Amino acid sequence: MAEKVRVLIPEEDVNKKISEIAAQISRDYEGRPIHLVCVLKGGVFFTCELAKRLTVPVSLDFMSVSSYGGGTESSGVVRIVKDLDEPLEGKDVLIVEDIIDSGRTLAYLIEILKQRGPASIHLCTLLDKPERRVKKQVKVDYTCFSIPDEFVVGYGLDYDQKYRNLPYIGVVEF
Ligand code: IMP
Ligand code: MG
Repeated sequence: MAEKVRVLIPEEDVNKKISEIAAQISRDYEGRPIHLVCVLKGGVFFTCELAKRLTVPVSLDFMSVSSYGGGTESSGVVRIVKDLDEPLEGKDVLIVEDIIDSGRTLAYLIEILKQRGPASIHLCTLLDKPERRVKKQVKVDYTCFSIPDEFVVGYGLDYDQKYRNLPYIGVVEF
């Protein structure tokens, strides 16, 4: 293994921030059920931790899109690998992502999901790399951490399918 992982955001800080964001979302959606759309695979750890802390009724669905190959650069090509199981008609949808980088994945995803008639669509991400944004129209409603332009792993994020299970956010040093 040529690369090393340095801790960027410790586990306790990640969990504390998720609790704060969950409380804010629960206040914003007071009295309304939320339909969480988890973007696989990276979003799965964050989605579970977030869902456990929400106090409004929650339903969950999963979608898998691919925009990255095995490396660290976006290909710009986004395709649906696994679609949602449930219709979105009339639902208050909250898309849950691991990280927003160029914004290409989300720009594409939001466009397709909007066509399915949800009552609303909002976006929640564990990490954001604002410096890297190409799709400026992507508006993030809830961000746990804005981070510098470094390649990170852990809490669902991978490098070549490795390190998703780390309970903290780390930077890969090559
Ligand atoms: P975007 O389409 O460029 O915004 O890329 C979004 C996707 O790229 C994320 O959902 C991740 O799967 C992946 N990605 C972007 N930056 C990183 C990173 O630093 N570590 C791991 N995956 C990343
Ligand atoms: Mg992702």
